[in-house]
Amino acid sequence: MKDPITLPDTQDRITLFTTLMPQIRELLHEERDAIAAMANVSAALHQTFDWHWVGFYRVMGAELVLGPFQGPVACTRIAFGRGVCGTAWQEEKTLIVPDVAAFPGHIACSPETRSEIVVPIRDSDGRIAAVLDIDSTRPADFTVIDAHALEQLCELLQPLF
Ligand code: SME
Repeated sequence: MKDPITLPDTQDRITLFTTLMPQIRELLHEERDAIAAMANVSAALHQTFDWHWVGFYRVMGAELVLGPFQGPVACTRIAFGRGVCGTAWQEEKTLIVPDVAAFPGHIACSPETRSEIVVPIRDSDGRIAAVLDIDSTRPADFTVIDAHALEQLCELLQPLF
């Protein structure tokens, strides 16, 4: 039998994001190095939401290459159009995957991951420069609330690419 799905508490999420966003703005204030910024953003998200894995992959040629992250070791390279990350890059849009087992081609870096969200990050010219990838051990842990908040957060990183 499948585990019952517990949806995240919407109000809790909104409260946490509302508290976190000014802290992120402060962390990024006058920081010009993308790696330093991604490192602190991944730590802040991981600590705040207790997600299993929070990290970045950067576009390098035809691949995504692992960047700063918090959580268990992960695959280092993902091809364009592969997995959730490569698909979000190809489609240039945020992907919410409520059940990773049901996503064709999902790349399982950790067997504990049940749901995932990937948010593309654009550079100053509007091209995809990186993706923010978040994995949760809870099924269906991400909603449009997370997508909206994380997209706003990723826009703060745009000038660094
Ligand atoms: N699950 C991702 C791979 C990266 S790990 O989750 C850290 C994917 O399918 O693209």
